[in-house]
Amino acid sequence: MRTQNKTNGPGGKSRIALAFQERFADEASFIKTWFENPVATGAVSPSGRFLSRAMARYVNAASEGPVVELGPGTGPVTQALLERGVDPYRLVLVEYDLAFCGLLERRFPGVRVVQGDAYNLSKTLAGILDGPAAAVVSSLPLLNRPEPDRIALLADAFGMLGPDGVFVQFTYGMVSPMPRRRAQTVSFTAEASQPVWLNLPPARVWCYRPASAPLPPKASAAQRLVRNIKKHTNRVRDEILETRDQLGTRIRLAKDRVRIDIAGHGTRVRDEVRGNPALEIIRKFNERRER
Ligand SMILES: C[S@@+](CC[C@H](N)C(=O)[O-])C[C@H]1O[C@@H](n2cnc3c(N)ncnc32)[C@H](O)[C@@H]1O
Repeated sequence: MRTQNKTNGPGGKSRIALAFQERFADEASFIKTWFENPVATGAVSPSGRFLSRAMARYVNAASEGPVVELGPGTGPVTQALLERGVDPYRLVLVEYDLAFCGLLERRFPGVRVVQGDAYNLSKTLAGILDGPAAAVVSSLPLLNRPEPDRIALLADAFGMLGPDGVFVQFTYGMVSPMPRRRAQTVSFTAEASQPVWLNLPPARVWCYRPASAPLPPKASAAQRLVRNIKKHTNRVRDEILETRDQLGTRIRLAKDRVRIDIAGHGTRVRDEVRGNPALEIIRKFNERRER
């Protein structure tokens, strides 16, 4: 057991000075790792505490089973999960970088650190989890990987989750990092947080559940309603943004309507638009307004 002194730490330094020193050291080791492997590291500095807390909020500390964290780096999200009340012995951290693994082991006693590839999750965690997981919390730089790899990761993670389990992911991007194509092999529901502006760069947290996942038993009718409205709004907005990215800047979002300008794009694009449920909804909405 470590002893703690409220005012002074090792070397007589105040706890505030030590916290700054630790943060500085984390920034330095992050930048070093980023120089060595920018694609896998995916960020030049660790997530801030507002983003880390926003991630941890999606985890029910009272639930049962392991909580798996992917890409913990120097541990800001791990710290937030512990502060949320997740028992350290439930935490399983999967980190690729050896130096980060050593640091995590020193910093978080009781937590299990697994050095390995999160994109090969079943194999990396073979024989390690002692039951269905309550959550998989990921800070992996997903956008650096092709879409099929991301979907394969989600499917793999879903296979480890218990009935109320969630897959939590942050992104600096505008749309869901898990693509919602019709031909995808795993169906899921997605819920997005408000943007976390107090992070550099600002980010958003996405929470994914298997499509058939039941609502939490305690959700009241009002909670169900709010959740469904949010889900629907996020889905439509997400599909609009995704389609806009595919078509260039031909879809303009205005306050109360969406303009779809596909002139010059030919029949192929028109077919894509016709098949997109979000755009169908918007097209009908615009038609009604124009009558
Ligand atoms: C964007 S950083 C996030 C670090 C930390 N969670 C944070 O929020 O500051 C991504 C982390 O994922 C790790 N990582 C990248 N690819 C990985 C993989 N395939 N398997 C396991 N960890 C990986 C990197 O080493 C890095 O620590």
